[in-house]
Amino acid sequence: MLGSQSADPARRKSLHGHWSSKMAFVLAVTGSAVGLGNIWRFPYVVGENGGGAFVLVYLACVLLIGMPVMMSEILIGRRGRRNPVASMALLGEEEGSTRHWKWIGVLGVVAGILILSYYSVVAGWTLAYVVKSVSGAFTAASTDMVTAQYDSFVGDWRLLALCHTLFMGLAVFVVGRGVERGLEQAVRFMVPALLLLLLVLLGYSVTSGSFGEGLTFMFSPVWEDLTWDGVLAAMGQAFFTLSIGMGAIMAYGAYLPEETSIPGASGTVVVADTMIAMLAGLVIFPLVFASGLEGILEAGPGLVFKILPWALGQMPGGAFFSTIFFILLSFAAWTSAIGLMEPAVAWVVEHFNKTRAQATAMIGGLIWLLGFASVFSYNLLADFKPFGRTIFDNLGRLTNDIMLPLGGLFIAVFAGWVMCRNSSADELGGAGLIYKLWRVLVRFVVPVGILIVFLKSSGLLPDLG
Ligand code: TRP
Repeated sequence: MLGSQSADPARRKSLHGHWSSKMAFVLAVTGSAVGLGNIWRFPYVVGENGGGAFVLVYLACVLLIGMPVMMSEILIGRRGRRNPVASMALLGEEEGSTRHWKWIGVLGVVAGILILSYYSVVAGWTLAYVVKSVSGAFTAASTDMVTAQYDSFVGDWRLLALCHTLFMGLAVFVVGRGVERGLEQAVRFMVPALLLLLLVLLGYSVTSGSFGEGLTFMFSPVWEDLTWDGVLAAMGQAFFTLSIGMGAIMAYGAYLPEETSIPGASGTVVVADTMIAMLAGLVIFPLVFASGLEGILEAGPGLVFKILPWALGQMPGGAFFSTIFFILLSFAAWTSAIGLMEPAVAWVVEHFNKTRAQATAMIGGLIWLLGFASVFSYNLLADFKPFGRTIFDNLGRLTNDIMLPLGGLFIAVFAGWVMCRNSSADELGGAGLIYKLWRVLVRFVVPVGILIVFLKSSGLLPDLG
C-alpha cells in the first residue's frame, strides 16, 4: 500500500478523488458545520446556561480553540491524504513519533458514529415538522397547543423510529455515491437560502418579538450564573458546531488541492458558521420572551420545535415560512450527516477493502441501530437516567463535551509539537505572521485551555483563593 505513495508528502494523492475547486471544499466544510448544532442546539444550550456569559465564552472558544484546531485538521488531512486513522498513523511515523497516533483517528470515527446516532433522530423531527407545517398544524396555534404537539410527537417511538429511518436512508444514499456528486450542489443552494430565511425571520422577530429583552439575554453577561460546567458546555458546543475534534475536517482535507489556502478556507467556514448560530439566537430569544414562556429556556432540546412553530403560526403566511424553515433545516442536517459518516466510511473502505457502497451500508446500518437508544430516550426509556440524564443527553455530553475536545487536544498537540516546523509551515503557506500565531495557539493556548476546562468542570482543580 505505502509503496504506491509518492515519497514527497506534498505530492501524495487521495484514494477518494479530489474536490473540483477550492469553492467546493469550502462549501462542503460549511455544509458540515452549519446544521442542527447552529439552529437547534445553540439556542437551547445558551438557554440552559444562562445566556450572555455563555455566549461570550463560546465565541472565545470558537476563535482561540476552534479556528486553530480546524486549521490543524485540514493540514494533517491534506498531508496524509487518507482516512483520519491512516493519516494519523502515517504522519506519526513520518514525523519520527509513532503509528499509535492512529488511535486519535479511531476516537474520531467512534465519535462520529455516536453523534450521528442521535443527530439523525433530531433530523427526523425536522422531517416530521415539514409535514406538520404543510398540513397547517401550527396555524394560529397557542403555545400550549404547540407544546402538546411536541410532547405527543416525541412520546410516540414508532413515529420517531420511522423519521430516523427515513433520514438515515437519505444520508446513506448521498455518502454511498461519493464525495463530490450531490453534496456540492446541495450546499451551494442551502447555505445562502438558510441565511436569507433567517434574515426574514429576524425581521419578524425584531418587529413582533421582545427584541430588547432577547438581545440583553444573549449578550449581556451575568458571570455569576456561569459555572465551570457551563464553560465545558460552551467549549463542547464550539467543537460540535464547527465539526472539529473528530477527524471529519481531516477527512475532507484529504481531498483538498495543494494550492488552496488553509487559513483562508478555515476563516470563511468559521465566520459563516458563527453568523448562522448568532442569527438563530437573535431570532429565537426575542420570540421566547414574547411568548411568555421563559421557563422553556431551561427545557432543553424542544426549544426550537416549540417556539418557532408557535411564532410562525401567528404570522401571515406562517405555514409557508414554517415549511421552508424545516425543509432548510433538514437540508442543513443532511449535509452535516454526510460529514459525520465520512471518517468511518473512508476508514472501512481503505482498511477492510470494501467498496464505498458496502462500507456506507455497514456504517449506516450500525448507526441506525444505535439510534434507537435515542429514540427510546423520549418515550419507553424516558425515566431511565444513568448519571441523572437520559441516554440521549448522556450521548451529547459524552461526545460533544468530552470526546471532541479530547480529540482536539491531541490534534493540536500533534500539529504543534509532533509535526516539525517545515511540515506545518509547508502546508500553511510559509512562516508568516498567521503561521506564528497559529503555532502559539496550537502549542500552548489550545492544550492548556482544554485541560483547564476539563479539570475545573470535573472538580479536580480547586479554585484558588
Ligand atoms: N457541525 C454540525 C452541526 O452543527 C454537527 C457536527 C459535529 C458534524 N461534528 C461533525 C457534522 C462532523 C459533520 C462532521 O450541526
